[in-house]
Amino acid sequence: MVARGDRSEPRGRRRPRQELRKQNVGTRTLHLNLFILGCGHHRAAWRHANSPVERVGDIRYYEELAQIAEAGKLDAIFFADGNSVGNVEDGPTWFLEPLTCLAAISRATERIGLISTVSSTFYTPFHAARMMASLDHISRGRMGWNVVTSMFDAEARNHNYEAMPTHAQRYARAEEFIDVVLRLWDSWGDGALRQDRQGLYADSGQVCAIDHRGDHFLVAGPLTVPRPPQGHPVLFQAGASEYGRDLAARRAEAIYAVAYDLPAAQAYYRDIKRRVKAAGRQDPVPIMPGLVTYVASTQAEAEARQQELDGLLPPEASLRQLQTYILQDCSDWELDQAVPPLPPLEEFKGPKGRYATVLRIIETEKPTVRQLLGRLAAGGGHCTVVGTPDRIADHIEHWFTHEAADGFNLMPPCLPEGIEDFVDHVIPILQARGLFRRDYEHTTLRGHLGLKRPNN
Ligand SMILES: Cc1cc2nc3c(=O)[nH]c(=O)nc-3n(C[C@H](O)[C@H](O)[C@H](O)COP(=O)(O)O)c2cc1C
Repeated sequence: MVARGDRSEPRGRRRPRQELRKQNVGTRTLHLNLFILGCGHHRAAWRHANSPVERVGDIRYYEELAQIAEAGKLDAIFFADGNSVGNVEDGPTWFLEPLTCLAAISRATERIGLISTVSSTFYTPFHAARMMASLDHISRGRMGWNVVTSMFDAEARNHNYEAMPTHAQRYARAEEFIDVVLRLWDSWGDGALRQDRQGLYADSGQVCAIDHRGDHFLVAGPLTVPRPPQGHPVLFQAGASEYGRDLAARRAEAIYAVAYDLPAAQAYYRDIKRRVKAAGRQDPVPIMPGLVTYVASTQAEAEARQQELDGLLPPEASLRQLQTYILQDCSDWELDQAVPPLPPLEEFKGPKGRYATVLRIIETEKPTVRQLLGRLAAGGGHCTVVGTPDRIADHIEHWFTHEAADGFNLMPPCLPEGIEDFVDHVIPILQARGLFRRDYEHTTLRGHLGLKRPNN
């Protein structure tokens, strides 16, 4: 098996599966999420002859992807979001605005959770709270919010800034932003709506102003939207920096992570669980690293699929992608030479998470520039596993039972095949091993993730 980014997984010395399961699974349930991005997470996916590139602006494409994920009983689908265009020559990055998409998808699905990024740097808390509360009503309790502080100056320039505010400024705003959003969701009590034709529409005693006056926001409240069905749509976070980890540990109810290999995943997992405990929280806070899978009935076929996609990637386009991760011009790097030295993480001024992964790949594999580009082509440094359904399931089980993950954010290199193959061939194995649900047991995203509903 080619288990890229999974070199530390022991082979041939594994304990019997039942024994492991008793020790480490217990009542835990694996969580699986489909991360939807354009034609798939491989930068060259759109170039493939069978790619759905003509459909990335067609809402029916996304509805179909969500329906496939729902047929596999996945916890949720997730849309990332950005506020600048990127290099349009290299393929589709953004097209439809994700909250708008989720409104449509909620009407094409019944049970699957619906998660979108919403930036605390560019939205106002009132707008964000209102849209997400509406989506929680429209979907009857399936909405989740991945709070990000955003990354790029090009995005900032679309929102009244000359450049991105510093990390410290962004995270201070994020903290206050989250507070205000939660208070707006709490501004209607659970029992506020009476809808009594002979009496009150709503009990004004349970609909309260929040009168927030902080460093970043002045918000009177109450919200225009009554209490969301979940109380609060589920709060996700994916920051890798110290600020991001602290915020996640204090506020997030579930976490997306980037982990290139098992040791990196375990170090992150233990660090976050320790911070959650130190913050005095008892919540489960499931951690879901990204997982890029090439699934096929034989190892050779899976590897051929990966090579086929890698072969479609023009080196100039991957160099441009690398440039966005390391924030320096690498257009004149020699493809078959070793990667030139890069500044240490502490000196890097941009987003730290992805940069740390690039440094880790360089440190552990000493790749040539071309090899590094290949590793980053799908998922940009998230763990990649290439193999048969059984081997993919082994990988998932191994990480799940070794304090590396509570679930995975699936990042298929090609859509829709990548998720169809996963649902048809990997999910049944996970179900047969007792790791994954055979049917939904709940109707809300909170329910799927085992999270309590905040009552008010
Ligand atoms: C699975 C995943 C999804 C992410 N989605 C987004 C996104 O949609 N928009 C965004 O600006 N950042 C996104 N990020 C990036 C982080 O949330 C974070 O903003 C970035 O790592 C920079 O912050 P940091 O330096 O604190 O880590 C995502 C990260 C991960 C792992």
